Amino acid sequence: MTKRDTNSTHAGRKGRLEGQVAIITGGASGMGRAATLIFLDEGARVVVADLNTITGAETIALATERGHGDAVCFQRTDVSQEADIEAMVACALDRFGRLDCLFNNAGLGGALGPIVDTTMEDWDRTQHMMLRSVFLGIKHGGRAMLKQGSGGSIINTASVAGLGGGGGMPAYSAAKAGVINLTQNAALELAPGHIRVNAIAPGFVQTPLIHAKSKEDMARFVGGRQPWPDTGMPDDIAYAALYLASKESSFVTGETIRVDGGLLAAGPGLFPNRAIHATPGGSFAMSGAKERPGKDSVR
Ligand SMILES: NC(=O)c1ccc[n+]([C@@H]2O[C@H](COP(=O)([O-])OP(=O)(O)OC[C@H]3O[C@@H](n4cnc5c(N)ncnc54)[C@H](O)[C@@H]3O)[C@@H](O)[C@H]2O)c1
Repeated sequence: MTKRDTNSTHAGRKGRLEGQVAIITGGASGMGRAATLIFLDEGARVVVADLNTITGAETIALATERGHGDAVCFQRTDVSQEADIEAMVACALDRFGRLDCLFNNAGLGGALGPIVDTTMEDWDRTQHMMLRSVFLGIKHGGRAMLKQGSGGSIINTASVAGLGGGGGMPAYSAAKAGVINLTQNAALELAPGHIRVNAIAPGFVQTPLIHAKSKEDMARFVGGRQPWPDTGMPDDIAYAALYLASKESSFVTGETIRVDGGLLAAGPGLFPNRAIHATPGGSFAMSGAKERPGKDSVR
C-alpha cells in the first residue's frame, strides 16, 4: 500500500464522530491542526485550545474554508494553568453543550541537554507543560464527562521518547513516560464511567516542532533510524486519534499506540549493516554485506 496523499482534501462529512464534541489542545499547529480538520470532517464539533492565537486563527480559517465554520471555535489556553483548562472545558459545554473527547496534545521540546546541566526552573517548566497539563486535562475533562454520564474518550499525546531514553531530552522523555503511566492510571479510574483513556506515541513527525521544512530535512533528522520509507506526517497521528475517539475503539483503554514507522520495532540493531529487505519478486535479500557475494540471498 502506498502512503496516503496528505495534501488531499478531507472535506465532506464521513460521520465517524457524528454528534460528538471534542477539545483538541495544540490544535493551532501540526498534529493538533490535522486532528481538528479530520475530526470536523467526521462530523465532530471542535474546540481548538492553544496558546498561539495567530496560528489558532489559521486553523479556524482552514476549517471554515472546508465548510466547518459553525462547528469550530478557538479558546486561548495555556495548558499548564488550571484556570485555563477549566475555562477550556467550560467553553466546550457552553458553546456546544457537551464533551465527548479530549485530545491532550499540546507540547513543545522543553529543556534540552544533560541532566547535570539542567536547571530546576527548566525541569519544572517542562514537567508543567508536558505532564501537569495532561493531568489537568484528565482531571477537568474527566469530571465533565463523569457529570454528563455518557462516557467519553481522552487521548494523550506521548512520544516514543517516553518509552525509552530520549537521546538528549531527559526532561521531555521523563514527562512523556509520565503521560503513558498517567494514561493507565486514569483508564482504571474512569473505566466505570465508560470513559476510555489512551495515548499515542509518535515517532518522527514533520511538524513545526522539529523545524524540518521538507522531507529532505526530515530524512537528515531521522538519520536512517526509521524502517518505514515515508516521512511521518501530522495526518498519521490524527488518524490514530480518530480511531481512539470513535466507537471503533470502544474496548480499548489504557493503551499507548505507537505511530512511529517501525522506529522502535527496529530494536537494538545488532547487525546494522545487514538489513533484510523484501524484494518485489517475493524473495528476501540481505543488504550491506558485500564480503560474500551471492550467499546472502534467501528465498
Ligand atoms: N513532531 C514530532 O516528531 C513529535 C514526536 C513525538 C511527540 N510529539 C508530541 O506531539 C504533540 C504535538 O506536537 P507537534 O509536533 O504537532 O508540534 P507543533 O509545534 O506543530 O504543535 C504544538 C502546539 O502546541 C501549542 N502549545 C505549546 N505550548 C502550549 C501551552 N502551554 N498551552 C497551549 N498550547 C501550547 C503550540 O502553540 C502549538 O500550536 C506534542 O505533545 C509533542 O511533544 C511530537
